[in-house]
Amino acid sequence: MLWQIALAILVCMILWKLFNTEHNDLDSVPGPAKFPIIGSAIIFFGLPPNKVFEELLKWPKKYGKRVVVTALYRYILHVYDIRDIEIVLSHSRNIKKSKPYVFIEPWLGTGLLVSTGSKWHRRRKILTPTFHFDILKNFMNVFEEKTKNLVVDLKQKVSEGSGVIEVMPFISDFTLYTICETAMGIRLDSDKSEAKLKYKQAIIDIGPLVMKRLTTIWLHNDFIFSLHPIGKKFAECLDSVHSFADTVIMERKKSYENDKKEVASGDRKQRLALLDLLLEAESKGEIDLEGIREEVNTFMFEGHDTTATALTFGLMLLADHEDVQERILEEVTSILGDSDRPPNTSELGEMKYLEAVIKEILRIYPSVPFIGREITEDFMLDDIKVKKGAEVVVHIYDMQRNEDLYPEPEVFRPERFLDGESRHPYAYVPFSAGLRNCIGQRFAKLEMKIALCEIIRHFRLLPVMKDARPTLKVDLILRSNDSIFVKFVQR
Ligand code: HEM
Repeated sequence: MLWQIALAILVCMILWKLFNTEHNDLDSVPGPAKFPIIGSAIIFFGLPPNKVFEELLKWPKKYGKRVVVTALYRYILHVYDIRDIEIVLSHSRNIKKSKPYVFIEPWLGTGLLVSTGSKWHRRRKILTPTFHFDILKNFMNVFEEKTKNLVVDLKQKVSEGSGVIEVMPFISDFTLYTICETAMGIRLDSDKSEAKLKYKQAIIDIGPLVMKRLTTIWLHNDFIFSLHPIGKKFAECLDSVHSFADTVIMERKKSYENDKKEVASGDRKQRLALLDLLLEAESKGEIDLEGIREEVNTFMFEGHDTTATALTFGLMLLADHEDVQERILEEVTSILGDSDRPPNTSELGEMKYLEAVIKEILRIYPSVPFIGREITEDFMLDDIKVKKGAEVVVHIYDMQRNEDLYPEPEVFRPERFLDGESRHPYAYVPFSAGLRNCIGQRFAKLEMKIALCEIIRHFRLLPVMKDARPTLKVDLILRSNDSIFVKFVQR
């Protein structure tokens, strides 16, 4: 029965393609060879994720600033040029995410990252105040504590051997523990109960499973996926993640009223978490418990790996540039003097050089290398019409390495962001731009700032192999294909 339905759908698609003679401007846009019916879908067939990324990077050189790929009846337009990127990201109604985001829906539901239309507008309005700077200040004690633990762990590791450390596992734990405590009020690091360990592992495993599905065309079908070992593992992860989040939400809800009384009497026992702000919105009828679960899961996803890869690439770049480390240290010393306490928010705000360092890290290695939209309303991309139903992929990674915008684009030079040179407003978009920009960017920058500041204060970083750059791969986020090692020398 299933095969008959699949065959009927395929026949309908073929007929639609054969008899649909409507003109489409995207037909004239260059791109990889398009075969009848299946289009160019087979170009990625069997390619490992690093080769997929390599292939995507070749396209603008081969075909130009706009590239069209087709797959059955779908048109996918890839844009690399700053002007096109501005038009797409600044459109006020084309805010729907493209097809691949569907695969993270079983995990995140239609939370802020995935939702669209009025639901997205409503949620964004509720959630925006929760990322206000005054709220973020409440998280400083968590940032400080987790950074301190990270430094202790790194020192321990240095004392055990040569000081050459694989960076990502340490940083990933740090960002995971930080987001878990700020989003849900849960300490994953101090309490190693089975549920917490299972949750941590599931959060780590789930991304690569989604990616495997994305790049394996036959696993796109829900039924086949559910029978495949990858689908089964994904279901197990979902189970752990959802049941853990549900338990935390219900427990926090129970203590919420109590906590409110404690806050009123100035005697809060629990640290504030984003979840508390969502529970407050629930008490006003603005969001329900299912909505809270969606948003908590969304924060856990968006707020952990993105920051971890940025910090990991950042430490690799810093290890190659001792002069940059020295300038960071000079700046920190000029602000904190001889004191060894961690900086507070206003002191972090004064660290303009460190800010430029973070900008340059995210220019060269934007954690989200490209983003996708499904077009819901026809629009003009200067001279061509992009019709409803098409998908557009915005190439942040490529644009931020364009030498017209950034001379010697491969060179790590934080001073670019200090020279006062005026830049096109869309030339730097690691947090995206327009309506659907990253709601957590201030959170991420604060977390990265305190982590880098404290690491540089305690360690001199040296490269294992100077100027070696890892092969990158396509994942839900930008990743190195090989582990990144840095030599840590205690100051
Ligand atoms: C270096 C760290 C980060 C980077 C580079 C980054 C980048 C991005 C980008 C490019 C988008 C747009 C995605 C798209 O259009 O598909 C986005 C959206 C989002 N980010 Fe981040 N992000 C970071 C950290 C965070 C953190 C720490 C949080 C939460 C605590 C967060 C929460 C979100 C959410 C909820 C959205 C969806 C916003 C919406 O559609 O309204 N991000 N992020």
